[in-house]
Amino acid sequence: MSIQYETPVGEVASTLPASVRVLERYGIDYCCGGSKPLGAACQEKGVPLDQFLADVETAKQSAGASRARDWNAVSASELIAHILEKHHAYLRNEFPRLTQLLEKVVTAHGATHGESLLPLRDVYAGLRGELEQHMWKEENILFPLIQQIERAKVTGGAGQFRGMPVNNPIRVMELEHESAGNALREMRRLTEGYTVPAGGCATYRALFEGFQTLEADLHEHIHLENNNLFPKAVALEESL
Ligand SMILES: [Fe+2]
Ligand SMILES: [Fe+2]
Repeated sequence: MSIQYETPVGEVASTLPASVRVLERYGIDYCCGGSKPLGAACQEKGVPLDQFLADVETAKQSAGASRARDWNAVSASELIAHILEKHHAYLRNEFPRLTQLLEKVVTAHGATHGESLLPLRDVYAGLRGELEQHMWKEENILFPLIQQIERAKVTGGAGQFRGMPVNNPIRVMELEHESAGNALREMRRLTEGYTVPAGGCATYRALFEGFQTLEADLHEHIHLENNNLFPKAVALEESL
């Protein structure tokens, strides 16, 4: 595809998987703010569009990017399997570890850095609680529904399919993604971009590194759902 000023950021990310790391590097929101034109998003971050496109070219050629898959070219069920294995499993492992690290840091540094650590603890606990429920809904309601629609399409049993309109749960999931995106932004603000204060210990650093990985992973996760899986599900349902 040719990328232009007007191309929505989410479309750039889904058609050019190598661009994801560049978007991430410049802090451009490509999951919840994915409908914004690329040119405007670059301008907001002070990145010339030419520079952005050159960086994407470089990313495309790097070794890691050759492994980046084109998720538009796989079935919905394959994409769901990838989301579960890579992103849901990651969150399930990482949430308890980060909670533990955060508690340690609050105990050791709460007296001196309570003004950022205490609200950080609240926002993180809220994010974790919401996402645990959110993943339950995806795993037990939305993803099985999408798999059912895909099966009906493949087996030609469209007439028998009597599920709820897939748009209803999708709309709820998108709102919850936005809420997670807001929590991530708030965590970044509270920590001044995850800057470990002078005198911060190794646990402090490990926590902030963990939060930054969580942020990048969640952006990619939400992007795959909002910009690849959900449009795929709506198209499948319409074609029945
Ligand atoms: Fe998910
Ligand atoms: Fe989700």
